[in-house]
Amino acid sequence: MFRSETDTEVLAHLIEAFGGEIDQAVRQALTVIQGTYGIVVIDARQPDRLVAGRNGSPVVVGVGEREMFIASDVAALVRHTEQVLYLDDHEVAVLDAGGYRTVTLDDQPTTKAPATIQWGHEAYDRGEHEHFMLKEILEQPDACERTLKGRLDLQFSTAHLGGLNLTPRDLLDIKRIKILGCGSAFYSGIGGAHLLEALTRVPADAEAASEFRYRNPVIEKDCLYIAVSQSGETADTLAAVHEVQRKGGRVLGIVNVVGSSIARACGGGIYIHAGPEVSVASTKVFTCTLVAFALLALYLGRIRDLSPAAGRRLIDGLQKLPDQMREILRGLDHIRAVADKYATRDNAFYIGRANGYPVALEGAQKLKEIAYVHAEAYPASELKHGPLALVCPETPTFVVLPRDHLYEKSLSSLEEIRARRGPVIAVTQAGDERLAGRVDDMLVVPPTEDELNPILLTLPLQLIAYYAAVRLGRDVDQPRNLAKSVTVE
Ligand code: G6P
Repeated sequence: MFRSETDTEVLAHLIEAFGGEIDQAVRQALTVIQGTYGIVVIDARQPDRLVAGRNGSPVVVGVGEREMFIASDVAALVRHTEQVLYLDDHEVAVLDAGGYRTVTLDDQPTTKAPATIQWGHEAYDRGEHEHFMLKEILEQPDACERTLKGRLDLQFSTAHLGGLNLTPRDLLDIKRIKILGCGSAFYSGIGGAHLLEALTRVPADAEAASEFRYRNPVIEKDCLYIAVSQSGETADTLAAVHEVQRKGGRVLGIVNVVGSSIARACGGGIYIHAGPEVSVASTKVFTCTLVAFALLALYLGRIRDLSPAAGRRLIDGLQKLPDQMREILRGLDHIRAVADKYATRDNAFYIGRANGYPVALEGAQKLKEIAYVHAEAYPASELKHGPLALVCPETPTFVVLPRDHLYEKSLSSLEEIRARRGPVIAVTQAGDERLAGRVDDMLVVPPTEDELNPILLTLPLQLIAYYAAVRLGRDVDQPRNLAKSVTVE
């Protein structure tokens, strides 16, 4: 009946029809609204009252002293209050300065107590750094320590993961693992699948949650689904979780933001504890997600056939990571010089083999996102099946080259590029005297266990993208056309 009116006019009519009861009017309107929304309504005639509702998009209520707040992200509230509550779908909050109440769309009270936020406002400060992205890259050793904290069990060479909500017997029944996420979370899922399959011998793969949700996927009861998300609010990933659950599947979350929609929907999983990530381009959460996958692989592996000695080897590797990250981060000047050298090229290739491939994907993604340089990632073995035609002296190739059992194979890909006079930057570990003469530049990381290589190899590529973006004068923390959390389809 209101077809020719704007949404605001419709609401104004409704408020009038309900005798000025704005919350009744909003609830009535929300029963007919379709699609996702996070909405807050104020009536100019009663400015002391706010009514908020959500379906799919995050709404957070901040509870202060004689003051209340509404935001879509807790980051906006941390300067004002430490007490917050997250609305659920189809829930409405009615606020005035003195307090709040939460109800369902048909006015049934929902008892919601506020929770104390995990990170104070200092964690959201840029400090002395020029950009949040650099701050977050440099925070990786500490973030990694937090992901590991209290989770390594030296006695049984396994991991403690208190939030899985699955018994060892449940986990023994798993025949397959499917990882879902978007963007960098998807790429970390590809790395996670390698880790899980290598250490548990359970077939594992990753798929973009944004595709999965639309293709009417077959859900298997003995498959463990894992949703990965920094924000815990990505609409496509949340929808994929709901799709799995609707069909009776079981989903764990690997999520950074505590209390977020995906964390709550999954009901079990691993919190990454990397701390707030403000810059749009994910950095510390990418590497810490891989650490969380390593913990899960260790735990699942030790339930199955992974030997105590192999578990111990992985634990030793994990414990060394923070200091090894610090070592990489002491080499900023060299990485910056390499970034400056190639920043103005129009294109770049990134190649990696097996677990080096997600590192290549993430390296290329970072360069595209923040430097706006066209970059493509390929599995090194696929180079000869197409992209080799494009290799030329103008296009640098970043070769992810861990010194694992595939090292010699990757060297031959490197030779194919050199034969076409393509500049080569090796991201590698020291120890091969032959290499210096065969590459244009080297970015060196310390040696670790093969399964953990992607974690360390990612750091130089994050910095390459960062310094290239700075050199090109880009808006590093808020790149064009991108959002930190994509809460729409
Ligand atoms: C957006 C961001 C990406 C991020 C992706 C997934 O596209 O720009 O950087 O990787 O969302 O976000 P999530 O919060 O689910 O990890």
